[in-house]
Parts: sequence; C-alpha cells; structure tokens
Amino acid sequence: MLSEKKIALGVTGSIAAYKAASLVRLLVKEGAEVKVLMTGAAKQFITPLTLATLSKHPVMVEFFNPENGGWNSHVKLGLWADLLLVAPASANTIGKMACGIADNLLLTTYLASKCPTVVAPAMDLDMYTHAAHQQNLATLRSRGALVIAPACGELASGLQGQGRMEEPEEIVRRLRAFFEKKNQLSGKHFLVTAGPTCESIDAVRFIGNYSSGKMGYCIAEELASRGARVTLVSGPVSLTARHAGITLCKVTSAQEMYETAMRIFPATDGAVMAAAVADFAPESKVEGKLKRGDGSLSLTLSPTKDIAAHLGRIKKKKQALAGFALEAANEYANALKKLREKNLDFIVLNSMNDAGAGFNVSTNKVCIIDKNGAQTAYELKPKPEVAKDIVDKLVSLKLGG
Ligand code: CTP
Repeated sequence: MLSEKKIALGVTGSIAAYKAASLVRLLVKEGAEVKVLMTGAAKQFITPLTLATLSKHPVMVEFFNPENGGWNSHVKLGLWADLLLVAPASANTIGKMACGIADNLLLTTYLASKCPTVVAPAMDLDMYTHAAHQQNLATLRSRGALVIAPACGELASGLQGQGRMEEPEEIVRRLRAFFEKKNQLSGKHFLVTAGPTCESIDAVRFIGNYSSGKMGYCIAEELASRGARVTLVSGPVSLTARHAGITLCKVTSAQEMYETAMRIFPATDGAVMAAAVADFAPESKVEGKLKRGDGSLSLTLSPTKDIAAHLGRIKKKKQALAGFALEAANEYANALKKLREKNLDFIVLNSMNDAGAGFNVSTNKVCIIDKNGAQTAYELKPKPEVAKDIVDKLVSLKLGG
C-alpha cells in the first residue's frame, strides 16, 4: 500500500528521534519515497546524515533548501507529499501545529500542505496527559489529523506510563491501513446534504435554523478522502469544501435542495442527509420589504417536501440512504420511526439532551440505528471523527456489492 507514496517525514526534538532511522528504513522498504524534515532540536538526537543516507534524499532543516525549491521549499514539499508524518512529534511541535505557528520548515510545510497529516507523539507521561497538550491533540484531530497514540511502558526519564512513541512497525501498519481506506470508495459517487435551508419571508428576511453545516461537510470530506466523488448540496453556511473530489452545489431553500437532490441521487451509490431542512416555508414571499404595522403579523406556512423520504421512495436496492434525527424526547423510538417512514438504511441519532452534541458545535455524540433497530452508541467526539464512524457504517453496507 505504500508503494510510490510520497511521505514528508517530520522529525522533532525527542529522544524517540532515534527510532526515525528504523521508520525511514521501513517506509523505503515498503516502496515509499521519503523526504525528511528535521527541527533544530531533532539534530541533537540523531544526525541528518543518518536519515539522508537511509531516505536517499538530503535532509531539510532550514527554510532555504537550494535542492528543493530554495526559499519556497515548504510550499513545494507541501504540494509534493501524499502524507505528512510527524514522528516523533514533541509536545512543542504539536502545540505549534495546533496554534498555526510557523517558525521552522516543518511547521511552514504543515501549513502549506494539502495532504493528510499523521502525528505520533513522544514525551514524558505527565506532559502527555497535561490538559494543554490534550487540547492541542484534540485541535489537530478536529482538523482531520490522525494521531497515533503513544504506547505505555518505561520512558527515557525512568518513569513508567504512556508517552513512548509507537514502534516504527506499528506506525507503518497504521499508514498501510490509512492508505487502504483512502481507496476504499474509489469509483463511488455520493450525495450529501448539509447546512440549514432559508425560507424567504420578504426580500431581506427568512426563516432559518442554527445548523452550521459542519457535520455534513465533515462527512463529505471523509467520503472524498476515501476516494469517492461527492456532490455536496449545501444550504447557506460559511464553510468551504477543501477536497478536490467534492462538487459543491449551493442552494438556499428546501425546494431548491429537493430539486437538486432529486436530480443527482439516481446516478449515485447513496446519500447522507445531514441538512437541517426547514419543515415549513412561508406560503408566499412578499415582494420588497415588509413594513412594520401597528398590529401583529401572521405568516401562513406550508409544509416543505421531505427530501429524505422522497429519495427513500426512489431508492434502488444497491443504493444506501442515511439520515439524521435530532430528538428531544423518546429519542430511540422517534428515530426508528423516521428511519422506517423515510426508508433509510440507517439513522444517526443526536439527542438534544447531550451536551456538546447537535447544532453549531464542533463535537457530536451520536447513536447509529440500523434497519433492524440495532443501535451503536458512540462517545462525544470531534465531528471529523464522527464522520469516520458514519462512513465506516456506510461502507459496512457493502455498497454496490
Ligand atoms: N429531512 C429532509 N427533508 C425535510 C426534513 C428532513 O431531507 N424536509 C431529512 C433530514 O436531513 C434528516 C432527516 O430527514 O436526515 C430527519 O430530519 P428531522 O428534521 O429530524 O426530521 P423530520 O422528519 O423533519 O421530523 P421532525 O422535525 O418533526 O422531528
């Protein structure tokens, strides 16, 4: 799986830097092309000559590297790499990555790269469990980075605990699994709906909701990162789709979302309905701007089309359809009812009673319920991680098989 993969390996100042030599050796043996970037502190632990010899490329430490784009090395490297692996990743480098600090070549490359990032932390146990460090790791995870947690055992300080960088063999195994997943959905096409819909009252006012679109965008990114082509039909949000495999179709109203989804769905392998679609819209839009009168104002609202239910009706056997349910009470029963009425393959339940779940937050706590009523509950996680669980579930439906 690593054959011909281009890996930018960042080595930072940790005693585990000595393991970088074995790591480079294993990666090269697997067929990967490895370019090593070291921080100044890393040179105290292992010589650039060792890593240059094993990687068969000059090791880069400074901002300016004549043999790799000169002053522009970070941009060149960022575009070249299929993966940025930071191993060992010190608490200092992880903290700087989380904050966007760019005071060495490794950090500028991280900011300039478009490829996935994997970090393998290495540090003493109390540094690892410190709230500041854990928060930095959570920030990296929430941006989609894969963190290979350190192992437990005897540490260089003589203390016992979690902090030893994972063994090079295990890191390589995790990278293989990572790249395997990357092609898991190649040739597949999915529709994802995301964000709120806005239903116009007049030229300047609308009925909307607090959906930020984050969950749907994370699902689209996760599908695309596994090789799928994704059409993301999104209501008005302030997010952008980063992955080149995502085609963004911006809509405003439930009716527009319905028409777009119905047009796209028949040619797809499935859809994930993550949009918070308005259930009602003003019966008619007032031309211009409504003036404030003396009395109260009544608006007549009529129901919008249930997009998920319509897709459920036209769904073919080999297509997968997943929806969401945001519930305040009788969560399981209501979600199961929605799943059956809309002919979904599974439904992702959010409870309004769970802190950190639902609208306008960057975490979510979900329970996935399948057609048979079987449920899997997940812990509170950043939305990109929740997206992985949802896409794993989609994959387990054996799409198109
Ligand atoms: N949905 C949809 N079109 C609608 C309403 C909902 O596609 N007009 C989809 C949502 O994207 C979600 C699922 O249906 O995947 C459930 O949405 P939700 O708003 O929780 O359910 P409703 O059926 O609208 O029921 P209620 O609001 O009464 O709970």
